[in-house]
Amino acid sequence: MSDPLQTAVVTGASRGFGRAIAAALVARGTAVIGIARDEQELRAVGDEPGASFTPVAGDATDETLAQDVIREHRPGLLVLNAGATPHMAPVHEQTWETFSRNWQADARHVFTWTRAALREPLAPGSMVVSMSSGAVLGGSPLSGGYASAKAAIRYIRGYAAEEAQRAGLDIRFVTLLPQMTPGTGIGSVAIAGYAARQGVDQDTFVEGRQPIHTPEQVAKSVVEVAADANSAPEYRITAAGLRPID
Ligand SMILES: NC(=O)c1ccc[n+]([C@@H]2O[C@H](COP(=O)([O-])OP(=O)(O)OC[C@H]3O[C@@H](n4cnc5c(N)ncnc54)[C@H](OP(=O)(O)O)[C@@H]3O)[C@@H](O)[C@H]2O)c1
Repeated sequence: MSDPLQTAVVTGASRGFGRAIAAALVARGTAVIGIARDEQELRAVGDEPGASFTPVAGDATDETLAQDVIREHRPGLLVLNAGATPHMAPVHEQTWETFSRNWQADARHVFTWTRAALREPLAPGSMVVSMSSGAVLGGSPLSGGYASAKAAIRYIRGYAAEEAQRAGLDIRFVTLLPQMTPGTGIGSVAIAGYAARQGVDQDTFVEGRQPIHTPEQVAKSVVEVAADANSAPEYRITAAGLRPID
C-alpha cells in the first residue's frame, strides 16, 4: 500500500498555489518532486522548503516526462496543479489559439498524468488530486476557454475513478475547485481583468468577493484531502475550508 504523503509530485510548483502546496507537503515530511518549465524559478523553491524538494524542469503536458517521473520516483500522490494564464478578453476578441490555451496546458496535462497514473499504474493506496476552478460553476466570460477546460478536468477525474475501480487499482481521484485568489499568477491577472470590466479598482473588486482563501489554505486543503482515506470526489475550497460537491 502506498502512503500518499510519503512521495508527491506537484506540477506548477514554482509559483502561486503549487509553491504553497509543495512547501506544505515538505513541512509535513513528504518528499516532493516539483515540476515547472522555468528551471531557475523552480530551483529557487528548493531553497525554501529544504532538501526534500526535487525540482524537475519540464513541460507538464509531456507524456514522456510524466511516465519517467512516475517510474523513477513512484509517487503516492500527484497534485496536478499547473495551469496557463488565460488571455483576458471577451469572446469576440479571442482567437482560437488564445481561447484554447487552458485546454492545451491545464486540461492536457491533467489528461496526460491521469492516463499515466492508470497505465503505469500508480501503487494501490495512491491518489491523484487535480486542480479545477470555481469558474466552472459560473463561467469565465473574459478568460476564453478557461472554465470549459477546468470542467473537462472534472470529467477526466470521473472517468479515471471509474476505470480505476473497474481494474481494482485502488487509486483515488479528487478534484478541487478553488476561488479567484489575489497574489497568485493566474488570480492576479483574472482579478485585474474582471475588475476593469466592472469599472472598479482591484481592491474594491477583491473586497466584494471576501472571504477569499489564501494559497496557504489551498495547500492545507490538499494535505487534508491526501490524508483522508474517505475523501469525497470533489470539493470547493473556501476560506472556511473544504466543501464537498454533491
Ligand atoms: N489563482 C487563482 O485565482 C485560481 C483559482 C482557481 C483555480 N486556479 C488554478 O490553480 C492552479 C494554480 O494557479 P496559480 O494562480 O497558482 O498559478 P501561477 O501562480 O500562475 O503558477 C502557475 C504554475 O504552473 C506552471 N506551469 C504553467 N504551465 C505549465 C506547463 N505547461 N508545464 C509545467 N508547468 C507549467 C508555472 O510555471 P512555468 O510557467 O515556469 O512552467 C507555475 O509554476 C491553476 O491550474 C489555476 O487554473 C487558480
